[in-house]
Amino acid sequence: MHAVTYDAYGGGPAALKHVEVGVPSPKAKEVLLKVEAITINPIDWKIQTGLLRPLFLPRTFPHIPCTDVAGQVVEIGAQVKDFKVGDKVLAKLSHQYGGGLAEYAVASESLTASRPSEVSAAEAAGLPIAGLTARDALTQIAGLKLDETGPPKNVLVTAASGGVGHYAVQLAKLGNHHVTATCGARNIHFVQDLGADEVLDYRTPEGASLTSPSGRKYHAVINCTTGIPWSTFDPNLSPKAVVVDLTPNATSLFTAAFKKLTFSHKQLVPFFVDVKREGLEYLLHLLKDGKLKSVIDSSFPLIKAQDAWAKSIDGHATGKIIVEP
Ligand SMILES: NC(=O)c1ccc[n+]([C@@H]2O[C@H](COP(=O)([O-])OP(=O)(O)OC[C@H]3O[C@@H](n4cnc5c(N)ncnc54)[C@H](OP(=O)(O)O)[C@@H]3O)[C@@H](O)[C@H]2O)c1
Repeated sequence: MHAVTYDAYGGGPAALKHVEVGVPSPKAKEVLLKVEAITINPIDWKIQTGLLRPLFLPRTFPHIPCTDVAGQVVEIGAQVKDFKVGDKVLAKLSHQYGGGLAEYAVASESLTASRPSEVSAAEAAGLPIAGLTARDALTQIAGLKLDETGPPKNVLVTAASGGVGHYAVQLAKLGNHHVTATCGARNIHFVQDLGADEVLDYRTPEGASLTSPSGRKYHAVINCTTGIPWSTFDPNLSPKAVVVDLTPNATSLFTAAFKKLTFSHKQLVPFFVDVKREGLEYLLHLLKDGKLKSVIDSSFPLIKAQDAWAKSIDGHATGKIIVEP
């Protein structure tokens, strides 16, 4: 099969190689997918840089990157109970072994979900990491309800035009929360159309200050950007606010620990998503019911995977970047 690999840390898009390798075989509790769509998440190219080398990621070289794939089941392991050949599915592969950027991939049954016929492979592929980071940051960390059963809160979503941000805006609005969002000028209408109540251009002084135009103080911040210091968030927060940090670094980890140790009412919480099948099913149903949409920034054939990789590294996608074998 055609697959895209890299052999060492570093090198960016130029280090991706197109190779012919054997189709992988599913183990007892795995399914083999004919891959129809893959998304690239920032974590995929950050692993290539060696960022997670201390955690032994990736586990081996050559490595086929990417984890979020939609496709059709073509073979099942001996103990697979929930899927059969021909099923359309969405799966999250492991960061250790990757395997997504290829014509076929093996996925654990436990991280595979049935894909309703109304949901395209590309729309589904955008969901696992980006969509569940948005949902779980809003619910598990910020404590928000997304079904209108809780009190409406003031939520700030930074980089609302990106993969995580565009899901976070929509999910927060499902819970009837008031959403302030930041993005670049070219995406203001796009983010308004996602449902944001007020939108700030991050390159203006007002946007850089994160101040709500309607004077609201934020109960929760889903921070999808990097480099915003605590001193910028602080004056915009309600007394018991939670700022969810999706891209922790040494400074933000120190600030988070300090806030916790000093029993600060305003908390900075580093967060790393843990994708489960339940979450995939939850988001797939929202897509099927038309309550959530995956916005596709761009689609690339597998042979152009380097261009998709470069586009993600560039950091200016509007929604999700998709690769299609
Ligand atoms: N912790 C976790 O589990 C987890 C999971 C997923 C993602 N993440 C991290 O979360 C971050 C966002 O991921 P993503 O997939 O959403 O990224 P992405 O899709 O690459 O984000 C791109 C978008 O961000 C916008 N943007 C960039 N800087 C901005 C700023 N300062 N203010 C407002 N908008 C800005 C860009 O707008 P312009 O083009 O106008 O500049 C672009 O539309 C990444 O660092 C990623 O590694 C963490």
